[in-house]
Amino acid sequence: MTVVRVDLGERGYDIAIESGALARAGALLRPYARGRLIVITDSNVAEAQLPRLVAALAAAGIAAEPIVLPAGEATKSWAQLEQLADRLLDLGVERGDHVVALGGGVIGDLVGFTASLVKRGCGFVQVPTTLLAQVDSSVGGKTAINTRAGKNLIGAFYQPSFVLIDPDVLDTLPARDVRAGYAEVVKYGLINDAAFFAWCEANAGRLLAGDADARAHAIAHSVAAKAGIVAADERELADRRALLNLGHTFGHALEAETGFSDALLHGEAVAAGMALAFRFSAAQGLCTQDDADRVGAHLRAIGLPDGLAAAGVAAGGTALVAHMAHDKKMAGGRLPFILARGIGDAFVDKSVSLDDVAAFLDRERA
Ligand code: GLY
Repeated sequence: MTVVRVDLGERGYDIAIESGALARAGALLRPYARGRLIVITDSNVAEAQLPRLVAALAAAGIAAEPIVLPAGEATKSWAQLEQLADRLLDLGVERGDHVVALGGGVIGDLVGFTASLVKRGCGFVQVPTTLLAQVDSSVGGKTAINTRAGKNLIGAFYQPSFVLIDPDVLDTLPARDVRAGYAEVVKYGLINDAAFFAWCEANAGRLLAGDADARAHAIAHSVAAKAGIVAADERELADRRALLNLGHTFGHALEAETGFSDALLHGEAVAAGMALAFRFSAAQGLCTQDDADRVGAHLRAIGLPDGLAAAGVAAGGTALVAHMAHDKKMAGGRLPFILARGIGDAFVDKSVSLDDVAAFLDRERA
């Protein structure tokens, strides 16, 4: 078992990564089951993984109470937050009890946010079941719901007590979901770890084919990278955590343009966004065209979109930049962009002109 510590003092916690860990959940979650243990999941994961988790807990004498929510992004809503909070209060949840978020980013975000509010904060454990949740959203304490003004605009930083990652749960996921989650893996190489990007180039095929060693290495490496960044800048105040948004500003515009639908999954938008961020960096003379080409080539090689056309987006620069202008990271009329001086050398640029971005996107469309 690999254990990565998120070093946040009294809010610090371990992330345990092990093939088959779900079957050992009784032992691994026992420290969080002194009070009630309530497992919250969605209807898809309820079929694929919930019985295994409940059985593993039962075998250790832990009676978990399951709550199953509808699957899909719409679950990250005020209405579901209210219902879930009421259900937890009806169950008599106390501060010392733990809720377990068994699922992908939607479940992790909703359950984490609800846990932050119930009794001013009850215990919370993440058991992520998608690659994206395993390498990104379950680690670092960002929790949120969507509102009519946009995605993730209401939320809290609320760290879990523990994260349990079983890479084997990815076996039951559609290949497209795993590939989309892989975009967040390759992101860590592009941010500050050129050697890991090279590893990704050499091993992505094995990883996406389900090779257990490649998968475990990629997850542990990604989680350790994220844990280091979160420990250094938990609340995204020092330009360090913001690096994790590489590809997300361009990607957000693509997702908005495609209606945040299955036409373009979040990870696919991030992949295209990272390729665009590198090509924009090259166009600004910040990084070499060779590096930008290498990023695009890798994403293309594994079947991820590497630009507007591949993402199915026909809109021009003005429309895409208009989507970016609604970004919650907008500060004083400026939007920080994560650009790069090269592979493994990303930085925050707060001086980017949105006119330059629009002109660049128009050239990309041509
Ligand atoms: N997913 C970006 C972050 O956790 O900061």
